[in-house]
Amino acid sequence: MALSRAIFFVVTWITTTLIRGCLGKLDVGIHKHHSLDTWFLVTEKSSYVISAAANGYVVNMHWGKRLTHLDDLNATVTEPPIWSQVISVTEAREEVPAFGGLRYRENILKAELPKGIRELNLQYAGNATISDHSRKLDLDLRDGNRTEFLVTLHYELDIENDIIRRSYTVYNGLDKRVNLSKASSAAWHLPYALGWDEQRELTTLAGEWSQEAMVETTRLAPGVKHTVESTRGMSDHVSHPYFALSQVPNAVNPSTDVYFGALAWTGSWEITVHTDTKGYVRVTGGIHHQDFGWTLEPGESFTTPIFAAGYTDEGLPGARKRMPRHARKYQKRNLATQKDDDVFHPVLYNSWEAVTFDLSFEKQMALADKAAPLGIELFVVDDGWFGIDSPRDNDTLGLGDWDTNPKKFPNGFKPLADHVHELGMKFGLWFEGEMVNPNSDLYREHPEWVFHYDGIPEYLSRTQLVLNFGLKEVRDHIFEKVAGHIEEAGIDYIKWDFNRPMQGVTMHDYDRNPQEAWVLAVEGYYEIIARLKERFPNLWFESCSSGGGRMDLGALERTDQVWTSDNTRPDARLFIQYGASLWIPPRMKYGWVTDSSSDNRFEIPLSFRFHVSFMGGLGLGSNINEFSKEQLEKTTHWITLYKKIRHVIQNGDLDWLVPPSRVSELIAVTESIYNEGEEAVVLAFRHNSPFPATGDLSPIRLRSLDQDATYRVTIWQEDPTEPEDEYEMSGALLMYRGLELPGLNNGMFKSAVVWLQQA
Ligand SMILES: *[C@@H]1O[C@H](CO)[C@@H](O)[C@H](O)[C@H]1NC(C)=O
Ligand SMILES: *[C@@H]1O[C@H](CO)[C@@H](O)[C@H](O)[C@H]1NC(C)=O
Ligand SMILES: *[C@@H]1O[C@H](CO)[C@@H](O)[C@H](O)[C@H]1NC(C)=O
Ligand SMILES: *[C@@H]1O[C@H](CO)[C@@H](O)[C@H](O)[C@H]1NC(C)=O
Ligand SMILES: *[C@@H]1O[C@H](CO)[C@@H](O)[C@H](O)[C@H]1NC(C)=O
Repeated sequence: MALSRAIFFVVTWITTTLIRGCLGKLDVGIHKHHSLDTWFLVTEKSSYVISAAANGYVVNMHWGKRLTHLDDLNATVTEPPIWSQVISVTEAREEVPAFGGLRYRENILKAELPKGIRELNLQYAGNATISDHSRKLDLDLRDGNRTEFLVTLHYELDIENDIIRRSYTVYNGLDKRVNLSKASSAAWHLPYALGWDEQRELTTLAGEWSQEAMVETTRLAPGVKHTVESTRGMSDHVSHPYFALSQVPNAVNPSTDVYFGALAWTGSWEITVHTDTKGYVRVTGGIHHQDFGWTLEPGESFTTPIFAAGYTDEGLPGARKRMPRHARKYQKRNLATQKDDDVFHPVLYNSWEAVTFDLSFEKQMALADKAAPLGIELFVVDDGWFGIDSPRDNDTLGLGDWDTNPKKFPNGFKPLADHVHELGMKFGLWFEGEMVNPNSDLYREHPEWVFHYDGIPEYLSRTQLVLNFGLKEVRDHIFEKVAGHIEEAGIDYIKWDFNRPMQGVTMHDYDRNPQEAWVLAVEGYYEIIARLKERFPNLWFESCSSGGGRMDLGALERTDQVWTSDNTRPDARLFIQYGASLWIPPRMKYGWVTDSSSDNRFEIPLSFRFHVSFMGGLGLGSNINEFSKEQLEKTTHWITLYKKIRHVIQNGDLDWLVPPSRVSELIAVTESIYNEGEEAVVLAFRHNSPFPATGDLSPIRLRSLDQDATYRVTIWQEDPTEPEDEYEMSGALLMYRGLELPGLNNGMFKSAVVWLQQA
């Protein structure tokens, strides 16, 4: 009996397999099953299947490698869900697990409905729309018998990067008010890992001011919830809204399954990761629920920010390629300044580290005269230029008073900006529009404009307070001030800072839920950027926040570039840039060559400093007044070389062949790959190591070149005018045996730039 059944199954399996072989191919895009309420979201290399077929709950059926045949669809829907509401929906892979019923894992939506009901039971409402050439799917869910309470799930595919963007809209069609106390953007469900009880490894990014984006890995364990978050009203440095989950430890191996994602939200956020004893993983994330509140009057709706996530079988290198490309794609879509790949991020000079608050028209004119011949393309005046009654001579006063200090710039910025333009450079100016010092005219006139509770002390941080950008009059005032400067002086670029966390976040004289302020403030920031970009389509906007406190996907899609860290020490930068490269497009990430990059124990050569800063947009922050003739010359030549290779760096994919290691601190090697391996730039570093070097470095095996092509290899080390070596070599040899870098065999702070061009 048992044997005949086994034979029957084998025969059936073979027959269906043969039939399947003949069936149609499953195309990229979003498809609905011909008869069932099941949708297939297919990208170049992944598939994501959701279904409401079994009992109306919208659940995930598959997320992983791409399914290839139309008939694969049947298999993914026939598998019956192992649960029912009677047993428990806790285990269900619901797309929107809401608070309510027998759901005891992390939920993503909690609402207070009329009569004090705080339970939801969301089921497919029976209609869905596929639009935008099969790139978008909207799907309605309704709550039990309260059919007027509607949740519309939104899915959008980034087909070539294997990424899905998710969010949802809650619509209150009831005749009474509804309050939301949690509205995270998405729940993602990972299948069991290879072995039934294998546990995955979580990669997150930790840090603090001056030490952003440190890569951390944690082994998941059942019974332990991992949360990365910021509750500060900004995306923050302490963690960054990104995750990656790999099937096996050591995801740097480029043939590992990795799921990865990033939140597009510049306010407080959270991402949680859970597993169970079998290795199933749930990831949830969105706006932080702590102190979140949103009231929906009848007929109102609320839409969450985007949570984008993807799948790759190419390990962390595959994830590192996809998320930055994804951010870049949306940046190009959103910003007129970014449409054209051939418009490169300019080499900038910023005098902050040279003069700090000690600004004057004459000094800035002199610096501009010095900067232009070096090849600088953008000249930026940083903090300290404003304030009349409260002159911004240090960080204790003047913030909020966006009038040019007449003692420092007697005729405003126009003469300086004109001069900078005549020298062939663009002109940039610093703002911190969402802040005030109490010692400022703005605060004296409008103390009610800052976040505060009446009768409660305001908590200063960096002697400043946060303006309530939820208030239209505040945004309008700041917008007009900033726009006035841009118009008057012809400013090409603004650097927008944000140097303290929020507190006292509430709305006064507001007939709605005052907790909405957390969200309104972030939307206010987005609105200012959008208004500036609309009025001045050629304006470049940099997002800065005490270094890298605002470099989430939301900022990346709305701004031209982000400042990664105030720490410009190149050996520290290698670690910061390593982490940041997981989600920030190379061109958006600036590195500055500065003087603060040396301490009194050792001198870091100019070449090393330049090479580290070559990894994205290039900036110079040194006090060039103090530069020797030789330093000025070398600087000019490094900038010239950078301009020759920046199309590869800024538009290529940044890969790390050797990640910087906090253990041995010996070498780190990157490779920027351009146009399918037509060109590449390798940056190689031997940094400080407490260990003596024994023997020569092994050749570095490159990746993603054309094995059959011959490459012209040019290597520079300390001298920008004279390559250390030049030869031709096949892609195969470079990839399978490796690139020799004898110049890095010993010594501290040795580095090399290697340009590979198909001959
Ligand atoms: C797939 O399922 C549909 C509907 O359930 C059915 O009509 C079709 O024949 C199935 N295809 C195969 C090959 O089993
Ligand atoms: C569902 O149907 C309603 C009424 O026709 C429509 O307004 C709504 O957009 C539909 N929702 C989706 C997700 O297609
Ligand atoms: C709707 O209400 C009825 C009556 O109270 C109840 O029996 C039924 O289970 C409810 N349906 C849903 C989907 O909640
Ligand atoms: C800051 O600058 C103001 C105005 O020039 C000055 O009065 C004050 O003493 C300075 N404070 C500090 C801490 O340097
Ligand atoms: C919703 O929140 C508002 C403002 O906090 C509160 O006044 C109201 O009682 C709440 N209503 C419900 C139904 O929870």
